[in-house]
Order: sequence, then C-alpha cells, then structure tokens
Amino acid sequence: MESPYLDCIALFGVGGAHPGGLQLTKKILTKEKIRETTAILDVGCGTGQTSAYIAKQYGCNVTALDCDKIMLEKAKQRFESLRLPIDVRKGSAESLPFDDGSFDIVLSESVTAFTDVSRTVPEFRRVLKKDGVMLAIEAVIEKSVSEEELAPFLHFYGMSGLLTEHEWLNLFQKANFKNINVERYKVQIDEQDVDNAADFSLSEDIGSESYEALEKHFHYSMFYKDILGYRVFRCSC
Ligand SMILES: C[S@@+](CC[C@H](N)C(=O)[O-])C[C@H]1O[C@@H](n2cnc3c(N)ncnc32)[C@H](O)[C@@H]1O
Repeated sequence: MESPYLDCIALFGVGGAHPGGLQLTKKILTKEKIRETTAILDVGCGTGQTSAYIAKQYGCNVTALDCDKIMLEKAKQRFESLRLPIDVRKGSAESLPFDDGSFDIVLSESVTAFTDVSRTVPEFRRVLKKDGVMLAIEAVIEKSVSEEELAPFLHFYGMSGLLTEHEWLNLFQKANFKNINVERYKVQIDEQDVDNAADFSLSEDIGSESYEALEKHFHYSMFYKDILGYRVFRCSC
C-alpha cells in the first residue's frame, strides 16, 4: 500500500521513527536476557538506529530487514561507517525470508501496523525459536471514530485500518503466542535527551511534497492525540 508518510521519512532518513524513540527501545531491551549468541531480527529497521544500538551494546547477532530501498541504503551506510557486522536484508514482514525458528527476539518498532497484520503476526511467530520473544511498539485506537473521519489519516499513513489494544491481543493469541504482556506508553517530549534523539540522513532530492508530508504528520499527531495511543507488546512463544 502506498504511504506518503513512509516515503517522506525515507527521504529525510529519519532514524528512531517510533514513539518513544531510542530511549524506549533501550528500556524495553534492558528487560531481556541478551547475550552474544542471541539472534535478533529488527523488522522494518528503517535507517537502522535501533539495530546499530543493539549490535554495539550487546555484540549479538543482528539482522536488519526493511522493504524500502532508500531506508536500507541508509541503514547500510550507517552500519558500514560504524563497522558493525549487521546482516541487512530486503524483504517484507508479511513473508519473511528466514527459516522457521531463526531468531530469539523479533523487534517491531512502529512497523506492524503498516502491514497486513493477519500475515505479519504469524510470520513473527514462525521465525521465532522455541522460547523466543516478540517485542512490538504499536499504535492503538483508543476511541471509536467514524470511517469517514479516519479515512484521510489511513490514506496518508498507508494503513488499511487501526486496531484497538484488544484486537492486537486477539491477533497475538491467534498466532499462538503465549504470555502476552502489554504496557501503555505515553508520548513524552524531552528536548534535553540528546543521546536518544532521532537522527536524519537526508536524500539529495527532497521535493516540496515531502516537506508538506512532514507537516501533515505533525498536524495529524496533534489532531489525533486523544484518539491514538501506543502500546508495548511483549509476547513469548
Ligand atoms: C515508521 S518506520 C519505523 C522504522 C524503524 N523501526 C524506526 O523505529 O526508526 C516504519 C518502517 O517499516 C518499514 N515497513 C513498512 N512496511 C513493511 C513491510 N511490509 N515489511 C518490511 N518493512 C516494512 C518501512 O519501510 C519503514 O522503514
């Protein structure tokens, strides 16, 4: 599905394009047992800010996958400049190019909601090892909104719909995940947090439509702030 928003963040090369940014990523990962032998898949890695952090911090096996060529080029540049041995793959979360039971952790930071969730969630489960864990930061809809009201939002983000927390939980259960935990995340803006800030890797040709898309994203973030919420889901196999 086309997404003016995803096209725009690829051109701006936004790293850490998920609610909570790198700070939330660090907090989530601290709770996991990650060793050098741990295999982690960063699905929808974008420009690879999270993958690079994991590889540096834990020295474990990181695979970074995205379906977008521009995002992947920028991720590769990042990993090469930091000399990080990260396996970069082009592919779709809906049909992952990995064998069953390949990973200990699958991490999806603001990715799954952009995909066909009925295909993606079972794929996460399939590529996880026995005792593997899926970690996902995802948007949820907190209040019911009419289809007409939501249509321009969905079109802009390239989503077919938005799920409630309950609907996400049902999906995880249906995919045979066990011990499903959910935590509410409230967006906080900490301008002092330079270490965990989003970073940018700009493409050469960024047209005016991309600046307009960025503005639209900020507008929607404000306009839908009481309707949209965020959750961190942790599901084990
Ligand atoms: C909002 S960005 C988040 C990027 C990254 N996780 C981060 O936090 O910076 C969503 C990412 O998901 C990728 N994506 C969307 N649909 C995908 C799919 N079906 N398979 C793989 N990646 C996908 C986009 O290309 C984009 O890089």
